[in-house]
Amino acid sequence: MFIRDAQVQDIDQLLAIEELCYDHPWPREAFEEEIERGDVGVGILAEEEGLVVGFLLGMAVVHELHLHNLAVHPDYRGKGVGKGLLEAADNYCRSHDLQRILLEVRQDNEIAQRLYLSRGYVAVGTRKGYYGPGRDGSLYTKELEPE
Ligand SMILES: CC(C)(COP(=O)(O)OP(=O)(O)OC[C@H]1O[C@@H](n2cnc3c(N)ncnc32)[C@H](O)[C@@H]1OP(=O)(O)O)[C@@H](O)C(=O)NCCC(=O)NCCS
Repeated sequence: MFIRDAQVQDIDQLLAIEELCYDHPWPREAFEEEIERGDVGVGILAEEEGLVVGFLLGMAVVHELHLHNLAVHPDYRGKGVGKGLLEAADNYCRSHDLQRILLEVRQDNEIAQRLYLSRGYVAVGTRKGYYGPGRDGSLYTKELEPE
């Protein structure tokens, strides 16, 4: 697995993965906005043999990284890609003086929550109806030790 920064030229591949992963995928403009955010935009992707197989998008806010999206192509799941992307996010934070990562995940998304817990995230709250009526979100956070 090769990890690198996401670029505007990668958006077609990111969008293809997004559409395979979510019932309500982000539109292209949302990817453009995330990747073109300049200094505060954080876009990391994973490749296998030159193919994009997963990505993570977020935004640096003061000393925090707000994680907005994480997705792995269904054919490449269960192979450590998600873990690798979260590890890359940790490294990004350490090298950019970001001390905490925050994210929301649907409460019924047990697989993602297991991944976050395995990477040292803790659940710190619930956001009622965050994903629509009756679909609550769980707020997770991870504190990063300085290097
Ligand atoms: C959640 C997601 C990113 C995980 O990616 P992945 O590359 O398959 O994850 P990994 O292979 O790195 O697995 C890491 C950990 O996640 C958990 N996990 C992954 N797949 C799992 C499964 N099918 N069942 C249970 N736990 C699972 C395990 O804790 C695993 O650690 P382990 O291998 O030591 O047991 C992927 O399933 C995905 O893209 N889902 C759809 C989009 C989504 O839900 N994104 C998160 C939104 S908040």
